[in-house]
Amino acid sequence: MAETVRIAIGKEELELPVVVGTESERGIDISNLRARTGMVTLDPAFMNTASTESSITFLDGEKGILRYRGIPIEELGEKSTFTETAYLLVYGHLPTRDELEKWDHLLTRHSMIHEDMKRFFDGYPMTAHPMAILSAMITSLSSFYPYALNAKADEYRDITIARLIAKMPTIAAFSYKKSIGHPFVYPRNDLSYCANFLHEMFAVPAESYQPDDVAVRALNLLLILHADHEQNCSTSTVRIVGSAQTNLFASISAGICALWGPLHGGANQEVVEMLTDIRKKGLTAAQFIAQVKDKKSGVRLMGFGHRVYKNFDPRAKIIKKACDEVLDRLGIRDPMLDLAKELEEAALHDPYFIERKLYPNVDFYSGIIYRALGIPTGMFTVMFALGRLPGWIAHWKEMIEDPATKIGRPRQIYMGPRETHYVPLDKRA
Ligand code: ACO
Repeated sequence: MAETVRIAIGKEELELPVVVGTESERGIDISNLRARTGMVTLDPAFMNTASTESSITFLDGEKGILRYRGIPIEELGEKSTFTETAYLLVYGHLPTRDELEKWDHLLTRHSMIHEDMKRFFDGYPMTAHPMAILSAMITSLSSFYPYALNAKADEYRDITIARLIAKMPTIAAFSYKKSIGHPFVYPRNDLSYCANFLHEMFAVPAESYQPDDVAVRALNLLLILHADHEQNCSTSTVRIVGSAQTNLFASISAGICALWGPLHGGANQEVVEMLTDIRKKGLTAAQFIAQVKDKKSGVRLMGFGHRVYKNFDPRAKIIKKACDEVLDRLGIRDPMLDLAKELEEAALHDPYFIERKLYPNVDFYSGIIYRALGIPTGMFTVMFALGRLPGWIAHWKEMIEDPATKIGRPRQIYMGPRETHYVPLDKRA
């Protein structure tokens, strides 16, 4: 028999169904609560609210598990490529050889942007944050593909998805070239997705450029690890914007804006800025940790803590290991890595962090690899967006293709003034 729970409201008892997930997570279905009782639930920051059922990503924050479509992140990081993982997330299964060839072909052939779009970049100051440019450019893509404006029409959905994934690296790299005053570098069809991105970022017309294999592999790994993370802030944003049947480009642009925040994807930039600052001030790890523990200082150890992980973030474990390998193979010695390790060590043995279950998250070490690849700090959150794109798309697609989807519209508990009356200007105190 299906599980239910009973709740008592005054003298009335209510029986509510329990939804059980494939990994035995249990949620009380309160979708009829207001209709039956006139009451709503109050859950600031959605700490206890599952906003949807989803078949894309499973994560267990207590055990430190992360799986895309059932496959552990560790296996994907070791064996897959970013484009294959993107296919897995978006279409729900690992592609066959034929499907993968077609997919990679699409992602290669659609990587150029309309020449008119290049002129959009001219309007930005050189100091523009690349996330501002990225979000504006992604929503602007909708003006070049008007048939994609109808989110419900499925005949162009696949090509729109491919176009978006294909063009994102080009737009991201152009925003970087703009910031340093270099000419835009067009994509190369003979390169893989990650190699092409490095080419678009670092090639210059004055000399030939060959992406380094170690750098390509490291980038593949980082993008795979960032590719999805179920109902986080930016993904929930994409879903709620998309629930109004907003087109894919605009929905993803909204997700990019959410990701930009320092408490979300912006944290990878904050981590490196924090490490730079600690070094500049000549603080020891212990001195900085003492500042973090002093609540009055308002200082946080960026790259630590997570809403869901109360154990090691499995992505952080993989990235930390990759950090050593990548820097070693590229022959780079980065004092930031040593400092990051000292901070981690100090934090993991400190009761403040132990009691609050604060562990390194995905952002703690990723910036150090990005630095080793030559990616400037201001681009770190763009790199996160590049990785997260297939996850956002998979969630948008799952939502838009579900006939039960309704527009997202939370309730509130109003705490403002009760009815009052307009006071003419000359009568106001
Ligand atoms: N440094 C110091 N103290 C922290 C940190 C931190 N990084 N993170 C949490 N805490 C403390 C809080 O001050 C709070 O202490 P209190 O109980 O004494 O008040 C307690 O731990 C719980 O923290 P909350 O902020 O309530 O936890 P929440 O789940 O709301 O926040 C968040 C999670 C935003 C990730 C938080 O840990 C944080 O700000 N971390 C730093 C920023 C960061 O790295 N963000 C990236 C997250 S991963 C991602 O989005 C890709």
